[in-house]
Amino acid sequence: MGRKFLSFVSNLAVLGYFGQHASAAPSSSTNQACAELSSTLVGRTSFPLSLSYHSETTAYWSTVLRELKPACVVLPETAEEVSKAVTILNKYPDVKFTAKSGGHDPNAGHATVQDGVLISLEKMSGATYDSATNLASVKPGGEWNDVISSLNEHGVTAVGGRLGIVGVGGFLVQGGISFLSAQHGLAADNIVGWEIVSADGTIINVDANSQPELATALRGSGSQFGIVTKFTVKAHPIGKVWGGIRIYDASQTDKIFKTLHDFVPNSNKDTKAAIIVTNLSAVASLNAFLIFYFYDGESPPTEGPFADFLTIPSLISITKTQSYPELAMGASLINSRISFRTLTIPYVSEYPAMYSEISKKMTELSADYFNNPLHLLSQCSVDFQPLPSAVGQNSEKNGGNAMGLTASDPDRVLLEFQCAWGSKDDDATLVSITKDLTAWIEGRIPIWLEAGSQAKDAYLPLFMNDAMADQNVTGSYRDYAKFKALQQQYDPIGTLRERTGGFKY
Ligand SMILES: Cc1cc2nc3c(=O)[nH]c(=O)nc-3n(C[C@H](O)[C@H](O)[C@H](O)COP(=O)(O)OP(=O)(O)OC[C@H]3O[C@@H](n4cnc5c(N)ncnc54)[C@H](O)[C@@H]3O)c2cc1C
Ligand SMILES: *[C@@H]1O[C@H](CO)[C@@H](O)[C@H](O)[C@H]1NC(C)=O
Ligand SMILES: *[C@@H]1O[C@H](CO)[C@@H](O)[C@H](O)[C@H]1NC(C)=O
Repeated sequence: MGRKFLSFVSNLAVLGYFGQHASAAPSSSTNQACAELSSTLVGRTSFPLSLSYHSETTAYWSTVLRELKPACVVLPETAEEVSKAVTILNKYPDVKFTAKSGGHDPNAGHATVQDGVLISLEKMSGATYDSATNLASVKPGGEWNDVISSLNEHGVTAVGGRLGIVGVGGFLVQGGISFLSAQHGLAADNIVGWEIVSADGTIINVDANSQPELATALRGSGSQFGIVTKFTVKAHPIGKVWGGIRIYDASQTDKIFKTLHDFVPNSNKDTKAAIIVTNLSAVASLNAFLIFYFYDGESPPTEGPFADFLTIPSLISITKTQSYPELAMGASLINSRISFRTLTIPYVSEYPAMYSEISKKMTELSADYFNNPLHLLSQCSVDFQPLPSAVGQNSEKNGGNAMGLTASDPDRVLLEFQCAWGSKDDDATLVSITKDLTAWIEGRIPIWLEAGSQAKDAYLPLFMNDAMADQNVTGSYRDYAKFKALQQQYDPIGTLRERTGGFKY
């Protein structure tokens, strides 16, 4: 997938940021809040020029975010310390703050806060497994590599990131699509308990059995119900898996798209199979398809669309039988400016040309940009991520999620448009390419549906983890009004709604 390929091609050190503007300096109340945090949470608060401040504010996946400077950084080690921090911040109602887990969300102002208070959960990481309950306790900091490796020692895993470097907390509060989703639902569907520092600073424990409505809301609402300090998740057995990446040249386009079209509905039958198909564009027709394959078993099937994919000639193939932690490992932190944007499209069995239309439009919209040889290290990609109805069946079985996936869902495809580039001067151009693309696709969806036999009012909620900040993700949820009311109930004065980052109701 594009995200992985990026680590091969880009290694730019870049300055600058977009989307959030530096004010002159933190306000005096922010400085006061930082001082109180520092004297109460001794040794946990750091300021500009210190080493821990520097490493924390540069530990973001997109270089855009490394330029945003909070007034101070709090590095709590326990839920009680997070609680103390939020309690103190309640005394300073005009001070912005935000929580950061892995820092992989590329949107400025989500896990970053210019001139505000950054609460980094980095020190609260890791996972433990309880065989008596078959549940795992997962902390929000760190990355999925840590969680997957620890749990693997017990022969189990959690429904988590497809690339192990992805952060844990943001992934889980914003939904989380996994290679195991056709078998078990979204990552968030597998959460049965939350320890949360709520808007007023109190620690609450939410249990999915006794608070089903709140549990549903917590699966995909993002950061607006509080800072989650611990997730209790269902564990699933895992052994050796088969998979990895293969890279193809553009001559295989037709075969890849045809097989993708066959794959989507078939993954309801063979839920152990998962793929991400990435169509990548860059300068000088350095175009390629990357397919990330996953099969939950020692060897891939010998018939069906997954097997068909494996007969397509590739340029590079690093697929093999391996442990799940090995499969997840491999990608590292890249050094590029990044944008995400998403769209959910229906699967229209009568319209197999959908994927090439989308790719051609991306190529067309980015042609001027990529015709400029100066943009040699930039790239844009389209990720096609099947969302078969099997996912919604698991969501409903597990109690449902905010995104509103249900057992009666049709097959859909989650699209992710990602661009990566080096120069701040290109920010506006690349962001507008993906915006134009999603606007164009939105216009095409009714035409595609017209060609098909399914209902024309397809429910197409946006997937929060892949979205750009300006997309109205929660507004695309079926039960938007209900969750908005619930959010207001848990955050009556708008502490989280008005003062913290992330997608809002
Ligand atoms: C290389 C790469 C691979 C990816 N692969 C996948 C994938 O396979 N599937 C998928 O679904 N997504 C994937 N994503 C997207 C990813 O899920 C999001 O970027 C997600 O936000 C990352 O989580 P994080 O902990 O790094 O979030 P952060 O960037 O730390 O935070 C994101 C948002 O969540 C909030 N937040 C963070 N922690 C908490 C918390 N503990 N409590 C409350 N709010 C919190 C933040 O305030 C912020 O608004 C991938 C991203 C990258 C960069
Ligand atoms: C992506 O797909 C389009 C449409 O089929 C094709 O023309 C193009 O070559 C592909 N792009 C890349 C980057 O391979
Ligand atoms: C998002 O969508 C909801 C539901 O349609 C709407 O009520 C809300 O005003 C929208 N928010 C923004 C910021 O556009």
